Amino acid sequence: MNEQTPIKKPQSTKRGSLLERAAEAFDFNGLLRRDDAAPMPVSPPPQTPANPATAATPAAEREARPPRSQFSRRASDRPTTSKPVVNAPRQNVDRDALADAAMIVPGGPVSGLAEEFRIIKRRLLREIKAFEDDPQRTNGRQDIARRILITSANPHEGKTYCAVNLAMSLAMEQDHEVLLVDADFAKPSVLSTLGLAAERGFMDALADPSIDVANAIIPTDISGLSVLSAGTQTPKDSEYLASQRTELVLARLTEQAPRRIVIFDSPPVLAASPAIVLGAHVGQALMIVRADQTKESALKDAIGLMAACAHIQLLLNGVKFSPGGRRFGTYYGQGD
Ligand SMILES: Nc1ncnc2c1ncn2[C@@H]1O[C@H](COP(=O)(O)OP(=O)(O)O)[C@@H](O)[C@H]1O
Ligand SMILES: [Mg+2]
Repeated sequence: MNEQTPIKKPQSTKRGSLLERAAEAFDFNGLLRRDDAAPMPVSPPPQTPANPATAATPAAEREARPPRSQFSRRASDRPTTSKPVVNAPRQNVDRDALADAAMIVPGGPVSGLAEEFRIIKRRLLREIKAFEDDPQRTNGRQDIARRILITSANPHEGKTYCAVNLAMSLAMEQDHEVLLVDADFAKPSVLSTLGLAAERGFMDALADPSIDVANAIIPTDISGLSVLSAGTQTPKDSEYLASQRTELVLARLTEQAPRRIVIFDSPPVLAASPAIVLGAHVGQALMIVRADQTKESALKDAIGLMAACAHIQLLLNGVKFSPGGRRFGTYYGQGD
């Protein structure tokens, strides 16, 4: 096998989660071990000119404060946070479309696919807990732990497929709710996959400070699931995302819903920069590897570019397509 060889499905017939099979298919421990990596930058939401009292605080006084106070949730520190949310109208998720795409259908029969994502979900929840319990990592910002980025090296490796399935699985949790954010600004597909529609979304709020992102969140008829569209396309998406305002917008997503886990469906790492930028704002990332398609060299490059992300796990999305798409058994590991 050389670096241009696609990563193979593991030969072993032993059951295990898709995460375990990813590790079995290829040993990326060396690449993923980040003992020497700098801790994830956890920056406070930027101060804005609307906050003259804080801006006028002498630097020495600010530095003398204990770290937590820098991230305090006083309304005066967070100008957009005190606004009440004007809920968007609730929309119905298209269950038939989900079934046709061989995805988890809420309320449907318990499938092998649902079981797979249950295992993945448990691992991600454990990592959230570990992050939240570690004061050095949170640095007073618990909401960062609850952000999960879904990405891959290249297009069509199953990011949206996995992001939607994971969101469905998380929505079933009693103790959590989930917000699925379409952050693939150039090729958004979360809303069409779920049969939803929106006039504005994430990018509109990043580009226009007068737009409150919380008002763009779409509640759905699936209990515990809400969705945020990618918003209006712009050639300046990377610049808006890299701006200071991003952290304010992201903080707003969980501000009035502290049990909320936010999943970002992102563009491929090697095709566009948003995944790399978002990687610095999340607690963990799931890197989708498509069996027999993703090349080892591409995966190495993608992981290297995601250096700012605190915790990355690989998920092996090996798949056989069935023409009808309804047979969950064709999902890798269930049908072979
Ligand atoms: N495990 C899978 N089982 C069935 N279909 C899948 C699977 N993974 C991906 N697909 C399908 O493959 C296509 C590409 O996947 P998608 O999630 O849109 O890729 P990406 O978001 O990475 O570009 C979609 O039609 C999707 O439904
Ligand atoms: Mg996609």
